[in-house]
Amino acid sequence: MRHLLDTKDLSLDDALNILDTADYMGEVGQREVKKLPVLQGRTVVNLFFEDSTRTRLSFEAAEKRLSADIINFSAKGSSVSKGESLKDTAQTLAAINADAVVIRHSASGAPQRLAEAGWIDVPVLNAGDGTHAHPTQALLDAMTLRQFKAQVDGVATRGLTLEGLRVAIVGDILHSRVARSNLWLLHTLGATVKFVAPPTLLPVDIENWPAEIYYNLDDAIESGVDAVMMLRIQKERMNAAFFPSSEEYSRLWGLTPERFARLDASAHETAILHPGPMNRGLEICAEAADSPRSWVLRQVTNGVSVRMAVLYLLMTGGSANDFYPGS
Ligand code: CP
Repeated sequence: MRHLLDTKDLSLDDALNILDTADYMGEVGQREVKKLPVLQGRTVVNLFFEDSTRTRLSFEAAEKRLSADIINFSAKGSSVSKGESLKDTAQTLAAINADAVVIRHSASGAPQRLAEAGWIDVPVLNAGDGTHAHPTQALLDAMTLRQFKAQVDGVATRGLTLEGLRVAIVGDILHSRVARSNLWLLHTLGATVKFVAPPTLLPVDIENWPAEIYYNLDDAIESGVDAVMMLRIQKERMNAAFFPSSEEYSRLWGLTPERFARLDASAHETAILHPGPMNRGLEICAEAADSPRSWVLRQVTNGVSVRMAVLYLLMTGGSANDFYPGS
């Protein structure tokens, strides 16, 4: 693995190698001194052409915990606002001898272009590109679902796949890079993916994707789910009305207080996830987001571990076995 551009490229072995490494990184995060010397003397550049809170903070935390030197670049306040191209930005990074680049961009395909154009010859990590892919988000979601499955089944996480797990991904699938990256990774790990959305918020070629389709959340829950991943309504990517009103959306596709109360009263254990940022009261109610069934903050914690894992693996060529001697 040279770059991390999309989960569609990951084999089952690649995915388990990352998740097992992330488990170890999670243990490091519990220590009093949360640091490993493995990237000492190496420089990571964080290129953020689009806003971010969780991804940006957790990449920075991950890099610091691995002892890397960090250069933070944000399009606002840089020469990008004077019209500088991605090529010139990349060549500037090459000239300062960066050892890896993390990139978030509003244009789908920008990380691939950076990885393949030959402007800079270092690992490229996609931190979210347009509506295309968000691989580290899908990996942290898989890490969280693996912890949930291990807890329910009373087993260890290491080496565990998601075989048999039924995951509903609910809401704005059309604009969601999180849904796309989750679909491919969950499929590779053996889970069943159920997309739940209004027809207007599903891609036109949806029948070619390995997912079951539901047009309302009650039907999906009725069919049996172990985890519900609520997606943010991405108003900034919508140039038309995709549903009649917020009230209508919430009533049919939102995790409302009534729907959450039914889920919560059930004997079946169901995990609630959301990649953030959340529109509370639209796609998810506060009762659900803040409940003991919510894994939302665990997702954020796991984000640091997963990003430590991919940085370590891509920048050193190591594997999970480095941290589990004798295995
Ligand atoms: N989940 C996610 O990508 O959040 P940010 O946009 O805050 O990074």
